[in-house]
Amino acid sequence: SMGAVAQPNTDKIVIAHRGASGYLPEHTLPAKALAYGMKPDYIEQDVVMTKDDKLVVLHDHYLDRVTNVATLFPDRARKDGRYYAIDFTLAEIKQLSVTEGFNIKEGKQVQGFSERFPIWKSHFTVPTFQEEIEMIQGLNKTLGYDIGLYPEIKAPWFHRHEGKDISKAVLTVLKQYGYTDKNSNIYLQTFDFNELKRINDQLMPAMGMDLNLVQLMAETDWNETMVYDKLGKAHAYSYDWMFKPGGMKTLSQYADGIGPWKPMIVKDSSTLGHIELTDMVKNAHANGMVVHPYTFRADKDRIPAYVKDYNGMLEVFYNQADVDGVFTDFP
Ligand code: G3P
Ligand code: CA
Repeated sequence: SMGAVAQPNTDKIVIAHRGASGYLPEHTLPAKALAYGMKPDYIEQDVVMTKDDKLVVLHDHYLDRVTNVATLFPDRARKDGRYYAIDFTLAEIKQLSVTEGFNIKEGKQVQGFSERFPIWKSHFTVPTFQEEIEMIQGLNKTLGYDIGLYPEIKAPWFHRHEGKDISKAVLTVLKQYGYTDKNSNIYLQTFDFNELKRINDQLMPAMGMDLNLVQLMAETDWNETMVYDKLGKAHAYSYDWMFKPGGMKTLSQYADGIGPWKPMIVKDSSTLGHIELTDMVKNAHANGMVVHPYTFRADKDRIPAYVKDYNGMLEVFYNQADVDGVFTDFP
């Protein structure tokens, strides 16, 4: 894929992470419309599958962090207490109310970001992938911008275990809406490198497609990439090779860019006034790949110690670290 990388319109791009999720509940259509009005280069969609093979825009492959599923369908949790999207039809999911994300602490709901939109206020729903694409394309028509999609295929390992090929489903919808090749205004991302390679080497060629692909990079213990053993238990597996010499070259054989966790570029251990950069951006650029780190957040408790404020953080990443764009909750 090297050599045919589509160049973004400007040198440095902004990706609205889960929409304008710093201001409205993540992945709701209002959060996407607000993001659109802020004129980012791309709007992100995390995508998971329903029981009846529909694609919905949701960060987790379970519903309980951002909806009232536990109230509406109390007997539908699995053994681990979670309510998985794949156990619900789209019609059922459409009955749910979406809220700003919360955690349960001592039996009480506590919102994850205390300064953000209050939990359970107003009324929001889970959009389908198609509904969101149609809204963005419709706004591109009425407002005349050309804002792109940045979908992420969530937990392909989980979907595969449930008998679903989520990547094929995502590609099918994208093709239907005219996203087909490297000139299409889209980056397709996932953490699972075997899956990204399968998309590049097998699925896209079979469908006559050739989209720009981004390899997300996480810490192994976040369990973003899993494999099932013979007893049906999922284990995380290591992808240390990406960080070793030659790793970026291997990635560039199927990816057009990388999406690293931001401390992989600027070390969080750095003290104020002393910025410690890794060589990841240099290595990615040397192999023809763009670099889009995640996740930039303006909430007070998310500003790293080596900068004064959010703008200082952007300054470090855009100007000193020379990244090509950022995923931000505050587009
Ligand atoms: O896709 C980039 C970034 O969104 C990855 O993290 O967990 O927010 O999907 P997450
Ligand atoms: Ca994502």
